[in-house]
Amino acid sequence: MSLVDSQRRVLSGMCPSGRLHLGHYHGVLKNWVKLQHEYECFFCIVDWHALTTDYDEVGQISQHVMEMAVDWLAAGVSPSSATLFIQSQVPEHAELHLLLSMICPLSWLERVPSYKEQQDQLHHKDLSTYGFLGYPLLQTADILLYRAGLVPVGADQLPHIEFARDVARRFNHLYGREPGFEDKAEAAILKLGKKTAKLYNSLRKAFQEQGDIEALETARALLKELQSVTLGDKERLFGYLEGGGKVLLPEPQALLSDTPKMTGLDGRRMSKSNSNAIYLRDTTEEVEDKLKRMPTDPARVHRTDPGDPARCPVWLLHEVYSSSETREWVQQGCKSAGIGCLDCKAPLIEAVQAELKPLQARAIDYQDSPDLVRSILAEGAERARDEARETLTEVRLALGLNYR
Ligand code: TRP
Ligand code: SF4
Repeated sequence: MSLVDSQRRVLSGMCPSGRLHLGHYHGVLKNWVKLQHEYECFFCIVDWHALTTDYDEVGQISQHVMEMAVDWLAAGVSPSSATLFIQSQVPEHAELHLLLSMICPLSWLERVPSYKEQQDQLHHKDLSTYGFLGYPLLQTADILLYRAGLVPVGADQLPHIEFARDVARRFNHLYGREPGFEDKAEAAILKLGKKTAKLYNSLRKAFQEQGDIEALETARALLKELQSVTLGDKERLFGYLEGGGKVLLPEPQALLSDTPKMTGLDGRRMSKSNSNAIYLRDTTEEVEDKLKRMPTDPARVHRTDPGDPARCPVWLLHEVYSSSETREWVQQGCKSAGIGCLDCKAPLIEAVQAELKPLQARAIDYQDSPDLVRSILAEGAERARDEARETLTEVRLALGLNYR
């Protein structure tokens, strides 16, 4: 059994919604591409989550999954740096979800804000199902199954991560307390040798009495380096640092990225349901056409009417794509009616097309070889399962489900 370095492990998931757009690219994928070189990353296509709302229209799921996988790969998420997989190909997600459901109070699920919000938003659908209520718990299982410490998500997901932390804490509280834990931990400290033991004790004290986070981190680093300690003792020493018992399932943290929300073609947030998106695989002509038809400051009825970028959705895209010189040119030209709106959009069209070009070149390779994509996902699922099985072995043991 290996001890997982949770602080270096990242897991995130995305619901398969078909082709991805610039909002996904700037908001999520660019960040993943960066993270995959810095952390051990697991990226999961959560097809079971799609069923929680779309259980009555399942015909398109596999196509949506494949299209999303192609777009991930096209954006530069790389199977040699990260593990990409489909949730339902790792059935361990379901087992952990089930086991966690035994200890998850109904009231915790009912008070997650997305529960009522989504029911209101999708009021034409009957979402008073067991599966939909369990959405955040399934997400919790996705994360805890890999003992991932870091979860890159948007701010809208914070309540779900908070929920996952609560469930992990409850699990550790219920099952991380082996009989005689404190004695065993103290015995493990003695085995460290005088010098290390003294250091461990003082760091532990600094954290527990003064809440010194740095001391906690130093102590964790110290433990990680230790060679001659059994894994059981190591886990006890990790758990004892923070007071409780063994940390069976580490509490995850959200990793918020600072990217602003991408503006869509109508000035609202870019999303599929708003029909205002530029898709990663839109052709050069489609990009040009969409941007040319984008509404501008309504005050500019005629070319000679001055406008104000502050009242124009096109400006929000310049803020993402344009250099400070170009932005200055837009400000000046718009307010003085020195440039027309089509002039203003030209550098934007070029910038978006240039951004998408390398991505689309990669997309073609994958799009034309679905077998390659399938094998990347199958390999990812195998790698993910290896990790998932290790966690579940421990979880089953902690729950008394060991029949060997
Ligand atoms: N609920 C997430 C969303 O809507 C998707 C998701 C499912 C997820 N499982 C996850 C995100 C695990 C992060 C980690 O975006
Ligand atoms: Fe918008 Fe540019 Fe036209 Fe001004 S010139 S209204 S910023 S598109």
